[in-house]
Amino acid sequence: MKARIAVLGGDGVGPEVVAEGVRCLQAIAEKFRHDFELLELPFGGVAIDRFGDPLPEETLRACLTADAVLLGAIGGPRWSAPDAKVRPEAGLLRLRRELGVYANLRPVAVHPALVDATTLKPEVVTGVDLVFVRELTGGIYFGEKTRDAERATDVCTYSVAEIERITRVAGRLARARRRKITSIDKSNVLETSRLWREVAERVVRSEFPDVTIEHALVDSTAMHLIRRPRDFDVLLTENMFGDILTDEAAMLAGSLGLLPSASLGDGRRGLYEPIHGSAPDIAGQGIANPYGTILSVALLLRHSLELVDEAAGLETAVARAIDAGARTRDIAAPDARAFTTREAGDAVLAEIEKL
Ligand code: IPM
Ligand code: MG
Repeated sequence: MKARIAVLGGDGVGPEVVAEGVRCLQAIAEKFRHDFELLELPFGGVAIDRFGDPLPEETLRACLTADAVLLGAIGGPRWSAPDAKVRPEAGLLRLRRELGVYANLRPVAVHPALVDATTLKPEVVTGVDLVFVRELTGGIYFGEKTRDAERATDVCTYSVAEIERITRVAGRLARARRRKITSIDKSNVLETSRLWREVAERVVRSEFPDVTIEHALVDSTAMHLIRRPRDFDVLLTENMFGDILTDEAAMLAGSLGLLPSASLGDGRRGLYEPIHGSAPDIAGQGIANPYGTILSVALLLRHSLELVDEAAGLETAVARAIDAGARTRDIAAPDARAFTTREAGDAVLAEIEKL
């Protein structure tokens, strides 16, 4: 098939991990005889430096006309002064909004070889297989903001329609899994959470009677995620709670660098990015973990291009590379030499070759 993919490396380790994602995408294209046109575009802090805008018009236009967008990471100390007028993060939020990708899927699965790489006990993380469905274009990140010398406000709003559509995504996903949704809120305090709980409950009961839904408070869920993570299947959350809990959940897998994400809207077009940030402390050293990005490429193949076998093949290639010991510094075995970003990418390419 033919497809156009916008590639936004961004800042920090973004371009390094995206380079490996792109190599894997090209290898899959070659192996399965597809024709992918890749367009590299400026985005984030580097775009602020060059154009004064984290999401230049040309980049946005290319993303809106592409079949999918692959993104590395954005941000860094250079652009994060408290009084900064433009921020890379604003570009990312705007891109998500413009693409209409309101559903952010963040799967967390524990690779057997990496059970010892986590800070948690092996018996707690073995067999974890869960997925977050994070609402991505609403809530407090998108509400009105004010700031004067004495105070600041961030408004959190959710509409019934926004909660309904994200709950439907969770419902459909649950049907393809263990049919269990845990909806997360802070309904003992927040009005938006009370609405969230009511609407999520109604949608699941009326439209997904074969799926069970339980409701849990965000604070206790933060605890249960590391106490009994195997009990979770689909976790449905509003924007900010999902942002926070997915960084925590990444530690179940062993490293933030391993987790991919897919952001989807009503059509097929999606935005794919690892959940980690730009990691300025290790940028430019070639040691970042590329697997979160490569696994995001697999999600891109599956969700935007509907290339199910190619997606599964790439996931298998990553799993085999990890099995064979291709582990970057963040997940390296105690006495083993850590792989560089490029070497980890090479290991996946070698496995793609063998598929
Ligand atoms: C994430 C990131 C972003 C978010 C930042 C960079 C704006 O933390 O994708 O989890 O908060 O959504
Ligand atoms: Mg985050």
